[in-house]
Amino acid sequence: MTRNTFPSVEFDPAWFEAIPRRVSSRRFDGAPVDPVLLDRLDQTRRRLAAAGTGARPVLLRQAPPQVFAGLIGSYGRIEGAPSAIALVGREAAGREVGYVGEAVILDATAAGLDTCWLAAAFDAERTGELVDLGEHERVHAIAALGTAVTKIGVSERLTRATLRARSRLPLDKTAPGHEGWPKWAQEAAEAVRLAPTGANRQPCRMRMDDGSFVISTVPKAYWTASLDLGIAMLHAEVGAAQAGVRGEWSVDADEARFAPRATS
Ligand SMILES: Cc1cc2nc3c(=O)[nH]c(=O)nc-3n(C[C@H](O)[C@H](O)[C@H](O)COP(=O)(O)O)c2cc1C
Repeated sequence: MTRNTFPSVEFDPAWFEAIPRRVSSRRFDGAPVDPVLLDRLDQTRRRLAAAGTGARPVLLRQAPPQVFAGLIGSYGRIEGAPSAIALVGREAAGREVGYVGEAVILDATAAGLDTCWLAAAFDAERTGELVDLGEHERVHAIAALGTAVTKIGVSERLTRATLRARSRLPLDKTAPGHEGWPKWAQEAAEAVRLAPTGANRQPCRMRMDDGSFVISTVPKAYWTASLDLGIAMLHAEVGAAQAGVRGEWSVDADEARFAPRATS
């Protein structure tokens, strides 16, 4: 089986603290984001775009409301988000876009901003016109960005209830045997457990194999599975780093394998 290495991004330790704080917000107060925060986020996204993953986040400082094309029903109806990040990548780069997109989202969360991944409820064509797409590139998703209203309305409450947005599968199901894993791998698994996934379907499963931490997705997973896998990879890496372990990813079609770097 051919495995390719996957370039990691340099990350900020504050992203670890952001993991349990991040939630998807769909109703924003409409106020523009502080330009200093946007500049900071823009620096992060430039660094991420240069990391060589093939994914390219683009900051839309003033996102036209039309990019948030709501679906029928309450899922994905975004109100009042002043800014967005367009998550651009090559056609087949879902995993890379997930990884890099979640890095931007955790960076924004660490800066005190509210976000929501949108892979379904956005206007890809309209967003594409704003970001100057290269050949073979497309906008895989966008992230809404701003400050959420403090009191969510009926529509968002309904969305969260339908998705059971706060609920996660137990690690005994997604990472069987995790109690016996090294501390860094347990941290990685917990960080993956908290990760956002399309429609909260949680397709990722984890195992240890020959000292490496492996994430795969279930067969017949929801269509956002490759984005979800990339997001899980970023979370796992941030979790492992918190426990003092850095390493390298290699990927094949169905799974991603994190091999810890030998420490001297
Ligand atoms: C790849 C991806 C795509 C998503 N697309 C949408 C979307 O189109 N509309 C929406 O309202 N939420 C979307 N979400 C948000 C999920 O529904 C949310 O992450 C999940 O329900 C868990 O809730 P939480 O993020 O508050 O923890 C998406 C999340 C991910 C990771």
